[in-house]
Amino acid sequence: MSTTHSNVRYDPVRNTAGDQDDGDLSDDDVKAQSDQSHDTLLGPPGSTQSTRYLNSFYTGLFAGHRLSRSYIASCFLIVTAVVSVIGGSGYWAWKTGQSQIEGQSPPWYPTPLGGTLSSWQVSYDKARKLVERMTLTEKVNITTGTGWAQDLCVGNTAPATNVGFPGLCLQDGPLGIRFADHITSFPAGITVGATWNRDLMRKRGAAHARQAKLKGVHVLLGPAMGPLGRNPAGGRVWEGFGSDPVLQGVAAYETIQGIQSQGIIATAKHLIGNEQEHFRKSFEWGIPEALSSNIDDRTLHELYLWPFAESVRAGVASVMCSYQMVNNSYACANSKLMNGILKDELGFQGFVQSDWLAQRSGVASALAGLDVSMPGDGLHWIDGKSLWGNELTLSVLNGSVPVPRLNDMVTRVVAAWYQLGQDAWEHHIPNFSSWTDDEYGYLHEGSSTKQEKVIVNKFVDTENDESREIARHVAAEGIVLLKNDDDILPLSPSLKQQGTQNRKKVAIIGEDAGPGNGPNHCEDRGCNQGTLAVGWGSGATEFTYLVDPLSALKASFDSSTVDVTSSLANKASSSLRKQLAEQDLCIVFGNADSGEGYRFWETQRADRNDLELQKRGSALISNVAEFCGGPVVAVIHSVGPVIIEKFVDMPSVKAILFANLPGQESGNALADVIFGRIDASGRLPYTLGKSLDDYGPGAPVLYYPNAFIPQVDFKEGIYVDYRHFDREGIEPRYPFGHGLSFTTFDISDLTITELKPKSALPSPRPKGQSPPSYDESIPPAESALFPNGFKKMRKYIYPYISSTNEVKKGSYPYPDGYDINHEPSPAGGAEGGNPSLYEEHVAVQVSVTNKGLRKGKEVVQLYVTLPDSITEPTTGEVIDTPVKTLRNFTKIELKPGERQLVNLTLTRKDLSFWSVVRQNWIMPEGEFTIAVGRSSRELGLQGVY
Ligand code: BGC
Repeated sequence: MSTTHSNVRYDPVRNTAGDQDDGDLSDDDVKAQSDQSHDTLLGPPGSTQSTRYLNSFYTGLFAGHRLSRSYIASCFLIVTAVVSVIGGSGYWAWKTGQSQIEGQSPPWYPTPLGGTLSSWQVSYDKARKLVERMTLTEKVNITTGTGWAQDLCVGNTAPATNVGFPGLCLQDGPLGIRFADHITSFPAGITVGATWNRDLMRKRGAAHARQAKLKGVHVLLGPAMGPLGRNPAGGRVWEGFGSDPVLQGVAAYETIQGIQSQGIIATAKHLIGNEQEHFRKSFEWGIPEALSSNIDDRTLHELYLWPFAESVRAGVASVMCSYQMVNNSYACANSKLMNGILKDELGFQGFVQSDWLAQRSGVASALAGLDVSMPGDGLHWIDGKSLWGNELTLSVLNGSVPVPRLNDMVTRVVAAWYQLGQDAWEHHIPNFSSWTDDEYGYLHEGSSTKQEKVIVNKFVDTENDESREIARHVAAEGIVLLKNDDDILPLSPSLKQQGTQNRKKVAIIGEDAGPGNGPNHCEDRGCNQGTLAVGWGSGATEFTYLVDPLSALKASFDSSTVDVTSSLANKASSSLRKQLAEQDLCIVFGNADSGEGYRFWETQRADRNDLELQKRGSALISNVAEFCGGPVVAVIHSVGPVIIEKFVDMPSVKAILFANLPGQESGNALADVIFGRIDASGRLPYTLGKSLDDYGPGAPVLYYPNAFIPQVDFKEGIYVDYRHFDREGIEPRYPFGHGLSFTTFDISDLTITELKPKSALPSPRPKGQSPPSYDESIPPAESALFPNGFKKMRKYIYPYISSTNEVKKGSYPYPDGYDINHEPSPAGGAEGGNPSLYEEHVAVQVSVTNKGLRKGKEVVQLYVTLPDSITEPTTGEVIDTPVKTLRNFTKIELKPGERQLVNLTLTRKDLSFWSVVRQNWIMPEGEFTIAVGRSSRELGLQGVY
């Protein structure tokens, strides 16, 4: 293997007492495993990364991380806050099991059946023929994972052997194949968003999926389009594509089409409202319940749901529901969200899988529309107790989960498999293990049942020149040139523009420029060291290699005329300052990192603590700017917005490059731009404010619980990022969509043509097809018994029951509203919603000319302002709308002097608002303003429609 870390990642804590164990962890077992996990986390640098599978579940608030003083202080504060909140009635409610306050999410039952749309009809026909032959336990196998680390992938289902349906391998993540060797670590979502390049988005998706297929994966757990970026310091903002629903939506659409072009099932995640990591998940933060994201209906539709609608429109075959609650009902048990919005209104035909342990109930989540429980474990990690598995079998046998609901869950999975053509694949099984880098390992790593080691890693090399080239190209086009005074960039390799001497001196400064302790130094990339190329958590990969900026830049300078020196510490010592004075050019690096909630780095628990550059990055850049003898180029790698006020206006800081999270080709991509081998063509996928306050009162992460179930009210509604800056008239440091090029473009001659007349409402919802129907009788309980002589693995999740006596009939307390009949949404009718929403109403044309002397790329951005004084037709209520919203964009390349006509269209949905009264998209009367330009604040052309 070419990875730089040890091959041995897992040294199991294994109970070899025999197979008769009941599968439960004794207290001692728990302690042993817990200690093991702590040792690993506290191990010396370079210690083997063992117990990979344990680490993500023993990382609750009190888990064994390095306990810094401030961490202990935060824990104390949290505990105090929790205790006070829990006090009195809260404590009583908890003790009496009434911890969850009455949800405010309306009920929506029953789950709409899949198979109602013509675009999936062939697959559903095939699925019906298979599903009708399956036994109850085979069906349950398909709906429930086998348990964390019980098979080779991060999520695995067991097969329906009699009918030839395979077990599926589900693997992270959004930027490369997690826990696998010889794969590409592509740039992260935020970098992809910054390219504003649809073609590259699709190509990256396809290249990623091609590798997944070679590794034996069926379902990729990406792309991520939630979080959207409501909280700029949110730990996982970098996994998505930027803080605007249209940018996220386009990137999600293209990525999904790319992934699914290779036959791999894509997963749109996380539905919905997982905007911060603190309190995202039960027990992870020391409190029993996850937070509730309280989102109003219009905000949900116009902002957070938009990219999911685009994903469904792209044909996505899987959606992952998120950890936290939405309007006080867990997302994975929220019937309004899954049944009403996703499956009815958006016409989603694939399957909903839970985030890992996001399922918190058994029957309730089945009724609410969950189709697949991942990773199969129930309320806690690897205790062998699923909320489904044998429990789902029992729920069907005792009549609480209706047979048609189970059939629909299964049919949705099998139809997805056919829809992607996976039935044509032969011997498609994972050839890598998520749990060890060694060739030999256990097939069921998380089980304590004694096993022999077998070959689990076949080291299939999935990388090729094309994937590397795509990774490099995306990383390069994802670099945003914020500032370029005196046209300091691009540099010539001989640095002929700088200084007067024949030999030139360049200093490259900052830890972020160098390799650090190697790219895989911290598990799941959970620390900030060396150059920053990805954030941390399940969205990270094991690097096959990482080209650091220093090596790539050094290699690009002409060594016959340029001397490059470097200082890879974030300190401007007095000797460094002296050396700086002699330089003809300084390139200085800073960064900011964050990641997923189960890991933290120093005092940072997943979400960032602030928007500052980390490791005193701003001070370093300011010092270098003060002491460098020549001009300064600042390079920033970041998971999201950072505050650059300390140095942005310093006269010596001539250029600032925002290189986002570039993945493995980091240095090469940076050198491509710095030396002008390609144009600087990235654009900001979010606004760069001057302070966190600029982003509005809703922007800060909720770091301490404010209730027994922490409540996060999305009170700012649709006014997130530039919509907030615009409304409040705040001058950003750099606006959403901003980015310079090495050439200049002129955008002129706006024409606006009506393609379809205005009308308030979309056409009536088209009629669907009949979904598959099956025998609805409850099968005999005997059919679900463990087969004779069956040998169980401890902790493994099975669909079988041990005795028919386990089936206890009774009356199940169906949720309120279970018997209300719902009219199909008028906004539905096809994948992504009513097809009439996607009809083009307006054509917009502009002419773009490259006025400079270099070939370059321009992003043409189209924004819409809805008419003034919109009122809700039925109630007369005034509808407040943003100053403008991005509605379309394209990126074009032009040679010097070249001119091109650019055509963009606007759909009905682009010109509508979501009416909470009509529960439909309404195109308001009046004049729409259409503006075209090169950023949200540079819109030179305006017209009306
Ligand atoms: C993350 C998901 C991921 C899953 C499987 C969860 O912790 O939230 O995004 O797909 O783990 O690794």
